[in-house]
Amino acid sequence: MLEKDFIPSSYTYDKEKGRIQYTAPSNIALVKYWGKKSNQIPANASVSLTLDECRTVTTVVYTKLAKDTTDFSFDLLFEGKPREDFKPKIETFFRRIENYLPFLRKYHFSIDTSNSFPHSSGIASSASGMAALALCLMDIEKQLAPEMEMDYFYKKASFLARLGSGSACRSIKGTIVQWGEHNEIKGSTNLYGIPYPYTVADVFKSYQDTILLVHKGQKSVSSTVGHDLMHGHPFAKNRFHQAHNNLIRLRDIFAEGNLDDFIEVVESEALTLHAMMMTSIPYFILMKPNTLSIIEKIWGFRKETGNHLCFTLDAGANVHLLYPDNEKNIVNQFIKDELIAYCENGQYICDRIGEGAKKL
Ligand code: DP6
Repeated sequence: MLEKDFIPSSYTYDKEKGRIQYTAPSNIALVKYWGKKSNQIPANASVSLTLDECRTVTTVVYTKLAKDTTDFSFDLLFEGKPREDFKPKIETFFRRIENYLPFLRKYHFSIDTSNSFPHSSGIASSASGMAALALCLMDIEKQLAPEMEMDYFYKKASFLARLGSGSACRSIKGTIVQWGEHNEIKGSTNLYGIPYPYTVADVFKSYQDTILLVHKGQKSVSSTVGHDLMHGHPFAKNRFHQAHNNLIRLRDIFAEGNLDDFIEVVESEALTLHAMMMTSIPYFILMKPNTLSIIEKIWGFRKETGNHLCFTLDAGANVHLLYPDNEKNIVNQFIKDELIAYCENGQYICDRIGEGAKKL
C-alpha cells in the first residue's frame, strides 16, 4: 500500500450524526522506535507486545455541520472533564490526517476519552489514545463507505494512528506488532503496523508484563524531543543498524521460544534506548535511582533462581517486568517481597499480552 491509497475518492453514503466507541490497548516495544524522519516515518523498524489491561476507551459523537468549518470543530472530555490543554495535540493530529479523511471538516466531534490506568502514572497514553481515536474516525469513514474491506480498515486505522503518535500504530491489531520497513520481514512498511508475520512459540502467547510505577510525575523530556535528538546523534547510525539486527535475531527467538536470547535482546534494547538519551546533546536521564535498583534485583533473582524474568523500559523511569505465564507464582512473590518497595506508593499494574483494539 502507498500513502495515496489512503486518500478516498468519494463516499457512497451520507450521515447526519452517530456515536462510536472503541477501546485500544497500550503496547510495550521490545525493539525500540527512537528517532524519526519527517511525516512520522521511523528511523528504524520496531516490534512490540500488545498489552491487555492498560487501555483507553474513546467515544466519539459526530454531528453534521450546516457548512464546512475552516477550523476543526470538536470538544474534548478526558475522564469526564473538559481538557483544553489536550486540544492542541488533537488539532495537530486532525491537520496531519485531514487529507486522508476529507469528512473531518464537515462534522462537529464530541470526543470523550478515559484510561484504565491511573492518571499521571507515567504510562504514556498517547499510543492507546491515538489508536482508539483513529479507530473511531475510521468507523465513521466505514459508515460513509460501507463497501470498505476490513483489511483496509485496520491498515488505514494504523496508518492514521501513526500520524498521531508513532507507537500508536502498533496498538490496533495483533498480539505482536511490527512497524517499519525491514528487508527481511515480509509485508513490513513504514506506513503502518502489521501483525507479526512469522511463527511465535506458545510461551510468548501468554507473556506477562507487570509495570512497576517508579515515578508517576511528568517526564522531564518528551518522546518527541528525544526522537529529534537522534538527528546528528553520534551513535545514531550504529543504533539503527543494531535495531535492524535485533529484529532478525528476534525472528528465530520467537519461533524457537529461546527465552535466554529473548532476555538478551530485550534488556539490551531497553538500555540502549536510555544510552541514546544519555549520549545526545543535550543529554538527559529518565531513569531514577529506583529504576537501577530494580534492574539489579532482577539480575540477582535470575542468577539465583534461573527464572526468565527480564525488564524493559520505555521513555521514562517505570520498569516493565516481562516473564512467561508459567513462572508467574514465583515472580509475583518476588515482586511483592523485593520490588514493590521501589514503586511510588507501592503501585504496580499487572498486565499481559493482549489481542488489540475492540469496538464497544
Ligand atoms: C521509547 O510513539 O511516543 O516508547 O511518534 O513522537 O509520538 P511520537 O513518539 P512515541 O515514541 C515511543 C518511544 C518509545 C519506544 C517505542 O514505543 O517503540
